[in-house]
Amino acid sequence: MATPPDTSKTVKLERYNSYVRKLHSTKLLNASSKLLFRVTLLTALVLILFFTIKYPPLSDNPHHVPPHHHSFLSTSLFSSTSAGGAAWEKQVRHSSTPRRPNGFSVLVTGAAGFIGSHCSLALKKRGDGVLGLDNFNDYYDPSLKRARQNLLTKHQIFIVEGDLNDAPLLTKLFDVVPFTHVLHLAAQAGVRYAMQNPQSYVGSNIAGFVNLLEVAKAANPQPSIVWASSSSVYGLNTENPFSERDRTDQPASLYAATKKAGEEIAHTYNHIYGLALTGLRFFTVYGPWGRPDMAYFFFTKDILQGKPIDIYQTQYQKEVARDFTYIDDVVKGCLGALDTADKSTGSGGKKKGPAQLRVYNLGNTSPVPVGRLVSILEGLLNTKAKKHVITMPRNGDVPFTHANVTLAYKDFGYKPTTDLATGLRKFVKWYVSYFGVQPRVKKETQHTEESG
Ligand SMILES: NC(=O)c1ccc[n+]([C@@H]2O[C@H](COP(=O)([O-])OP(=O)(O)OC[C@H]3O[C@@H](n4cnc5c(N)ncnc54)[C@H](O)[C@@H]3O)[C@@H](O)[C@H]2O)c1
Ligand SMILES: *[C@@H]1O[C@H](CO)[C@@H](O)[C@H](O)[C@H]1NC(C)=O
Repeated sequence: MATPPDTSKTVKLERYNSYVRKLHSTKLLNASSKLLFRVTLLTALVLILFFTIKYPPLSDNPHHVPPHHHSFLSTSLFSSTSAGGAAWEKQVRHSSTPRRPNGFSVLVTGAAGFIGSHCSLALKKRGDGVLGLDNFNDYYDPSLKRARQNLLTKHQIFIVEGDLNDAPLLTKLFDVVPFTHVLHLAAQAGVRYAMQNPQSYVGSNIAGFVNLLEVAKAANPQPSIVWASSSSVYGLNTENPFSERDRTDQPASLYAATKKAGEEIAHTYNHIYGLALTGLRFFTVYGPWGRPDMAYFFFTKDILQGKPIDIYQTQYQKEVARDFTYIDDVVKGCLGALDTADKSTGSGGKKKGPAQLRVYNLGNTSPVPVGRLVSILEGLLNTKAKKHVITMPRNGDVPFTHANVTLAYKDFGYKPTTDLATGLRKFVKWYVSYFGVQPRVKKETQHTEESG
């Protein structure tokens, strides 16, 4: 899909002009002050025009800011003509129409992302209708998102290119399709990047989520919503394993805080509007088509390139451990949550009765020290890592995660079945095939396989 032309500048000027017209129509100004006013105005307009041309709009952040992260401040993509035409509507309808009796019609946000692409394929495979939404931001290499999109396109899944904060676009989608469910996975992910670009977390994880909920609550019928929270909400929790009833009021990163805020916001929309909402606390999800900003991914890259890797240990010289969860297990959990989601009770913005509100851990229930992760990778890549052990900086990471998944098992039979060695073998197989790595990798990992 082609990127529509940037209309934000002209729209801003239009808004400004109508503001000016309003000022003009007030009768309070006498003739002379009117003249002075007009001269000032003209000067101001010329200056604005000058600055608008000279500097790109909305980039006041000195750090690297992916272009789409501020789009909640800019105009709707939908206001241009590429979205909203008859051909576009046809694609939207076709993609979201279920092919099984009583099939779902699911809007998957973040469909070009790691978990979103896997869930979209799984839903489509079993006969549900799937429409994707993604802004293809460059938090990590967008070519990976495009490659996932190509895979989805092959399976008749259309991804609308747009932002969560684009209310007219979301409203249009709900006008065209009576979605039964929303699987909301779009977010600014990553714990460490929050110190570099905090606003992107607020923009996508809070403002974007609220925008989606506003549109969903007004829709008729209201969809049921399953969305991605995170194990990071447990923050400095010291209980082991982490259970849903443990405290989550000590986030260690802004990322965690925005996910926790999401859980509270979900409560509000459930309470006021009768939206059925399920939050899933994912624990370090990994696998084929994964995220390049995660340790297992960049360790693989660095080991293959002979670069040293940083291995964190805690302040007390203990090893950092993670409850790594394989993507296929997480996908099953997402589908289980969708299948057991009740209908929302409201319609057209009015609550009719109490609605379901749930939160579940989706983890693997067996934490693995990062050193063990590295030695599995060394074996699979047939290459020794240059290990550089350092004390974990206080940048938002927590030393340890471990999920109690009893609740998800009880309510929808969630049972992770893939251990880290098995899952990493599948990841490495994908990695060498996707990036065309050959030399030192063992024979049995060389065959390619399209992962769904
Ligand atoms: N992978 C994990 O280990 C993990 C752990 C806990 C929680 N999560 C959560 O699960 C969800 C999916 O994570 P993932 O690993 O697939 O990440 P991802 O970054 O691969 O996928 C997120 C997708 O959302 C899109 N997106 C971001 N902001 C958007 C916006 N404002 N409008 C439209 N699209 C937007 C991105 O372009 C991306 O393709 C996220 O909410 C993440 O916070 C992931
Ligand atoms: C796990 O969670 C369940 C249900 O939430 C709870 O009853 C149980 O006590 C927890 N187990 C542990 C070991 O914390």
